Amino acid sequence: MQRREFMQLLGLAGTGLLLPGVGTHARAGGTTMPDWHVGFRNPPARELHTRTLRMEGRLPKDLAGTFYRNGPARHELGDRRYSHWFDGDGMVHAYHFHDGRIRHHARFVKTPKYTQETCANAFHRPAFGTVFADAEPVAHADAMNAANINVLPFADRLLALWEGGSAWDLDPQTLATGDRVAWSEEMAGAPFSAHPAVDVDGTLWNFGLVPGAGKLVLYEIAPSGKLRRAEALDLDASPMVHDFAITHRHLVFLLPPFRLDPERFGEGKSFVDSHRWYGDEPMGVLVIDKRDWSRRRWFELPAGFHFHIGNAWEDGSGVIRFDYTRYDNADFVTRAARGLMRGEDVPYAGGHTALVRLDLRSGGIDQSVLSEQTEFPRVDPRRTGMRYRHLYTTVRTDAAAHPLSNGILRRDVESGTTEQYDFGPGVISEEHVFVPVTRGKDSGWLIGTALDVERRESLLSVFRADALADGPVAQGRLPYPVPLGFHGNWRSAG
Ligand SMILES: [Fe+2]
Repeated sequence: MQRREFMQLLGLAGTGLLLPGVGTHARAGGTTMPDWHVGFRNPPARELHTRTLRMEGRLPKDLAGTFYRNGPARHELGDRRYSHWFDGDGMVHAYHFHDGRIRHHARFVKTPKYTQETCANAFHRPAFGTVFADAEPVAHADAMNAANINVLPFADRLLALWEGGSAWDLDPQTLATGDRVAWSEEMAGAPFSAHPAVDVDGTLWNFGLVPGAGKLVLYEIAPSGKLRRAEALDLDASPMVHDFAITHRHLVFLLPPFRLDPERFGEGKSFVDSHRWYGDEPMGVLVIDKRDWSRRRWFELPAGFHFHIGNAWEDGSGVIRFDYTRYDNADFVTRAARGLMRGEDVPYAGGHTALVRLDLRSGGIDQSVLSEQTEFPRVDPRRTGMRYRHLYTTVRTDAAAHPLSNGILRRDVESGTTEQYDFGPGVISEEHVFVPVTRGKDSGWLIGTALDVERRESLLSVFRADALADGPVAQGRLPYPVPLGFHGNWRSAG
């Protein structure tokens, strides 16, 4: 791709479409908030210095490495507060597992947005869901990059990930912010999603959507971190797509009928409010040949929305199977995620694991939607793109307790059996990731965070992945709550 072409493509994302406009302006504090609202406030300090977690239980001897997590954390600055959960600047946490102890520290990702707004002591750039009335126009997507969705160790680097613009380099030890990542000179500033897929051979696949331009950017990056290929494909529209999946032969995208309306963008609405829900249209399924990106197949599922796909694989007869967390509409992202910031439990159509079977030969596709309310699907990373049996998700079993999940669930996607652990009504469970044990073929640990809203403390739990119901084998506590986050990944020591 020529540099000029890319600059044009990014120009569509940056100049005319990201105008400031009339937005919301919520103030922190004031009214009485439910206990769980502590998950949507700022952390106790701008930098959380190294602290050893208070432990119960015993950490497995073979568990040595670092668990990294990211999520929106600066929700308030000066007298301003964002009105959407997805807006706040990203804070990256590192939990170092060593010698039977866990040490934690955390820092904000110091993007230009973070640094300049800190100096001004005010949010003054458009965000995903909030645009203050005096917001400055931005020239390119990275000017509003909050680096707040995911953090991924890759090729001796640590990447803080957003989805509308670049990844950001962090120091894996100190979490100090480095440079914006440019995979090549031509790709500088191109959107790079927060959900790359690392193939079994170490190849990293990713995509980016250029809002308003109807462009889907694809990336293939060698295990060394060197860009092999990148290309922008034309889509007819700009659906909101947050995640994708790989099989050993294909890339799989779900394109919800929740699409950007450039006119709304031009009127100064926030990015999310510039989307429209077309509930009488199907959700598109786009399957792209990994080796030849011009070979594409389209399928349709009933109208729906999703953030996440757990995994996908295909057999020798051209049948692809994958799971995704299906929502009947986009109410969570448009309404409920705002309610959380106000301390309101706005009812929404919750996510449910859907299992899809797609036949490339016959063109048939069908899905089964399961009953549990789930989110944050993860699998053993050694099974990415390959046949898998076990899917790990958060689960909501107590809708009266608070608006989010209170447990974790392991599902055997072949037999249908499940096993779960409930943290109790006073705890919000977050994403839990599978950490392989090198000695055993399919064994491993499930590690993740949770927020104890009653005690106002954050938790880190370690489960035997095949014995969730037994409860955590070890659990550490921070003496303060940290904001609820999104995603994390493990890097083994050595
Ligand atoms: Fe995500």
